Amino acid sequence: MTITPQFVTEPGDDRWATSAERHLWMHFTRHSIYESGQGHVPVMVRGEGAYVWDDQGRRYLDGLAGLFVVQAGHGRRELAEAAARQAEELAFFPIWSYAHPRAIELAERLAHYAPGDLNRVFFTTGGGEAVESAWKLAKQYFKLTGKPMKHKVISRNIAYHGTPHGALSITGLAGAKKYFEPLVPTGIKVPNTNFYRAPEEYRYDEKAFGLWAAERIREAIEFEGPETVAAVFLEPVQNSGGCFPPPPGYLDRVREICDEYDVLLVADETITAFGRIGDMFAIARFGVQPDIITCAKGMTSGYAAAGAMIASDRLFEPFRHGTNSFLHGYTWGGHPVASAVALANLDLFEREGLLQHVRDNESAFRTTLERLYDLPIVGDVRGAGYFYGIELVKDRETRETFSDEESERLLRGYLDKALFDNGLYCRADDRGDPVIQLSPPLICGQAHFDEMEQILRAVLTEAGNRL
Ligand SMILES: Cc1ncc(COP(=O)(O)O)c(C=O)c1O
Repeated sequence: MTITPQFVTEPGDDRWATSAERHLWMHFTRHSIYESGQGHVPVMVRGEGAYVWDDQGRRYLDGLAGLFVVQAGHGRRELAEAAARQAEELAFFPIWSYAHPRAIELAERLAHYAPGDLNRVFFTTGGGEAVESAWKLAKQYFKLTGKPMKHKVISRNIAYHGTPHGALSITGLAGAKKYFEPLVPTGIKVPNTNFYRAPEEYRYDEKAFGLWAAERIREAIEFEGPETVAAVFLEPVQNSGGCFPPPPGYLDRVREICDEYDVLLVADETITAFGRIGDMFAIARFGVQPDIITCAKGMTSGYAAAGAMIASDRLFEPFRHGTNSFLHGYTWGGHPVASAVALANLDLFEREGLLQHVRDNESAFRTTLERLYDLPIVGDVRGAGYFYGIELVKDRETRETFSDEESERLLRGYLDKALFDNGLYCRADDRGDPVIQLSPPLICGQAHFDEMEQILRAVLTEAGNRL
């Protein structure tokens, strides 16, 4: 299906960018670039399959699925039609003491996909709200069940869990938090599972490293006092820092520790759910049962905004009685149009076998990216499913990373723009060590992997020459 954008511009016509620069406050964006006239805001006007087009008519391979979102690819008419149908039938009704068919159907469907007894679906409009909801549920649950001191949360360094005050407290990125302190107190941080940066003694033993990292969680619980700790939040594969898969045994050990101290395990699957790692929920692929899953992004493939917190029967139990209710909600949570789109998206997943497609092609994706190891600037290629990070290093032998100034010059000054100018939209991120992140639509195959590799090769070769 080819759609003509509503307002077509010709190359050289900057009207969209000019207006954006005057009025649109872009998220996490340095507006000084545009204020000082160093460039124009890239304006995307159309998408089809794995590609998007800008207002100048240039085409880009969407190597990030928008923002880890567009699982089914762009331009899927059936998802647009599902939205239109629902808007006509019932555009809006809240789920505050009422229900409507699409929220009911979607809740049942998500409960069906979620592992074990995760049967209660609380809708939000995104991942940060889902994380926020999970922390609040953990606090209220323990207050209702006779453990009122349990309120603290443990999460991992460099992990990103969203921007609301609670979710930002759980986030492990000092730079993202500094202007908003004091945040919600009692967010405790432990090491993440970046094996490439493991302490020297564990560098060649992934399993031992995983157990070491899990023990840091136990240590934090004991140090804080188990009677005060409510939950551990972690992504099955951590995004920020560049796609850290869980070392073998790590998640099992974390589960055991949580059980031992009656601490809830929250799998933040904002990115990893809905096929990104080849399963509806990645935690199930790793064989571990969480108490709560938070999810969003891929649920609708981006054709509407939706998120959810999926909780176990055990956590719902106190809310079945007396005057108890979970004192929390969002106007747009469980929006009929978003729910209809999510259902159509999940139908599409089933019909096209998207999960199987990821499983069938994930090793080809990895192998293709690993070809880049012949470039000295490539230190580590890591990830799982259709979710990969490429860590860049100054010296591969010593794993020496870049100084802040070099990283600024390399990532912001060159890589970001060069990749984009060469037709690849992806992410160059230096919130941890510098990485390039790839997370393409799940419909991608070998031809797309090759295209990514070729563009990365050209740009990284030039980046290496510039060092
Ligand atoms: C793991 C994780 N949690 C939470 C969020 C926040 O989601 P949202 O931007 O939908 O609030 C993100 C966003 O990327 C995320 O990756």
